[in-house]
Amino acid sequence: MIREAAAWLKSRRAEWPRTAIVLGSAQASFIAALTDRQEIGYRDIPGWPVPTVQGHGGKLVTGRAAGREIIVLSGRVHLYEGRTPQEVVFGVRVLALLGLKTLILTNAAGGINPNYRPGLLVLITDHINLQGANPLIGPNDDSLGPRFPDMSRAYDAALQQTAKAAAAETGVELGEGVYAALPGPSFETPAEIRYLRTIGADLAGMSTVPETIAARHMGVRVLGLSTVTNMAAGMQAELSHGEVLATGKAAAGDLRKLIEAVLERIDD
Ligand code: HPA
Repeated sequence: MIREAAAWLKSRRAEWPRTAIVLGSAQASFIAALTDRQEIGYRDIPGWPVPTVQGHGGKLVTGRAAGREIIVLSGRVHLYEGRTPQEVVFGVRVLALLGLKTLILTNAAGGINPNYRPGLLVLITDHINLQGANPLIGPNDDSLGPRFPDMSRAYDAALQQTAKAAAAETGVELGEGVYAALPGPSFETPAEIRYLRTIGADLAGMSTVPETIAARHMGVRVLGLSTVTNMAAGMQAELSHGEVLATGKAAAGDLRKLIEAVLERIDD
């Protein structure tokens, strides 16, 4: 299926950009700012899973940001939608087949680290997979990558330095932390958040980790950026998807500035 989708996309365009960004909740303004924009609806690409969540679009966009040609995946599917881990990483694998080198994964997350605040952007330095799922479970396709991929440096060290330099240059505040991935869709309980803090998590979210694993499996380097859309359960009065979307939208300008400064500094 991924090969069919990649062949379909290749028949529409021979050369694909080597950098892609997956946009999380409420990041439509990033797309609007792209020049030379071209859009393909996920529903038109053979086998590509279409998201069902409000605030998550559903299209593959190409265009220029900071003078660089990029691919943007606007909208993703999640395990909590009842999708399989393979469906969750479908898009990342297709782009890797098209020659992707660098993947920037963004997401909305709950802040566990007490030094965070809603609206803060955080550089993901590592992750803890608590989703009870892994996209590599099952027979390994040796033509994609190894059976047992190393995850010692899942988030590329050079890209992390680039993101920090971009933050310093633009004046956008950037925290750092470990992202714990939960299956969702219910938010965590306060007890679960205390547990997550104890095991070393700074952020809680419901995405990104399967995509990072699939990308690393295929040798694509990954930069992970979270928007803290709320403090995690027990640290504020209550949680809602409405707040996640509203804070995500409010921080979208900072995220765009940071990503553009990152794009100016990477070469592939
Ligand atoms: N927990 C899990 N996922 C999230 C949260 C949260 O608090 N906020 C946004 N995504």
